[in-house]
Amino acid sequence: MNDFMYSYPTKVYFGKNSASNAIKSELASAGKTIMLAYGGGSVKKNGIYDEIAEMLCKMGKKVIDFSGIMPNPTYAKVQEGAMLAKKEQVDYILALGGGSVIDCCKIVAAQAKTEQDLWEMEFADRNIPSNAIAMGAIVTASGTGAEMNGGAVITNEEKKTKTGMLAFAPRFAVLDPVYTLSVPRMQVISGAFDTLSHAMETYFGNSDPDNVSDDLALAVMRNTVVNMRRLLADINDLQARGNLMWDSAMAENGILKVGRLTDFQVHQIEHQLGAYTDCNHGQGLAVIHPVYYRHILAAAKEKFTRFAKEVFGTDTAEDGLNAFTAFIQECGLPTKLSELKSTVEMTPDLLRQVADTCNIIQCNPRVLSRDEIYEILCECI
Ligand code: NZQ
Ligand code: ZN
Repeated sequence: MNDFMYSYPTKVYFGKNSASNAIKSELASAGKTIMLAYGGGSVKKNGIYDEIAEMLCKMGKKVIDFSGIMPNPTYAKVQEGAMLAKKEQVDYILALGGGSVIDCCKIVAAQAKTEQDLWEMEFADRNIPSNAIAMGAIVTASGTGAEMNGGAVITNEEKKTKTGMLAFAPRFAVLDPVYTLSVPRMQVISGAFDTLSHAMETYFGNSDPDNVSDDLALAVMRNTVVNMRRLLADINDLQARGNLMWDSAMAENGILKVGRLTDFQVHQIEHQLGAYTDCNHGQGLAVIHPVYYRHILAAAKEKFTRFAKEVFGTDTAEDGLNAFTAFIQECGLPTKLSELKSTVEMTPDLLRQVADTCNIIQCNPRVLSRDEIYEILCECI
């Protein structure tokens, strides 16, 4: 066990009526002006927006809309939200969406409280924000676990960088699986794969082999696979959706990471690929994961063997990796970069730029060179 400090800032409301219960309890004593933030309009179509707006109106709140937050939210969108929050003197931000809306709101909340440019503050001055507007997250698409942590993944289009920024975790999170029922099938599966990836990337980081976090990570992986298979059989299985919602939060709320180092090399490569191509996060991970693992397998044979036995019920490290690769196919997730929906063509030149600019992890089974990352990306074509 490495040294650590652990505290938890997010209150979770799970299940039926949780949005109503949370809003009544958490916003009663908040100020009057609430920013209701959402994406490209799914919440307007499925009625969740109207439901939440009505609750707020009944409480006498003034609702300020902040709409159009795109998947893979941009830093420009953050600035737009922060300006609006300042102008309207917003007291509380409610993020209504998936990881993209929640992440965007975390940085809006912090940027609205300072005149300093947050990107400069975090990456040039190496400081983190000290203040933010309070916010809550109402999850409508699950998988990232963004609702229970203080990190936010933001794309800076000018700098061609998609990376994690640090801010404050939401004060509360609403997890109602019913709210996810209108999410398109492929997004449901991509989100769940993101959860599996988080637990795997945590587990494959360097740690004492008898660390309890490894045991927890393996349990989250097993449970995610079981429930993804239930959804493959019946995409509307509400119990499975709920199980996966909690898996998602568990995988990224920090509890698996306590007292250990993590890998997250696949995430670093995928994030940078996203900066250049705007591809879907979970689907990008599905393509890169098996190739990366084939590269590092020999350096983590024992861990891969344990993963093989406990998650896929196979005997050897190689069998486990084959079962994982077959599972990605079983899910219908992309297995090649060419299958990802991308705004630009993934040429070797573009992949070289991704390899040359992504973060390189130092606490994984084997540290990769930029040439090897490029090789991995070329093997994904
Ligand atoms: O924009 P709308 O119209 O709402 O449509 C969204 C979007 O197109 C749709 N959607 C959401 N709820 C829906 C729905 N459609 C129908 N019914 C509903 N109830 O789903 C699409 C994808 O949404 P998005 O929020 O982009 O997906 P996800 O939750 O996978 O979030 C991805 C973002 O989170 C970052 C990713 O990099 C990416 O930017 N991540 C954040 C993390 C964190 N903060 O801890 C960790 C992750 O590793 C990840 O990097
Ligand atoms: Zn992820």
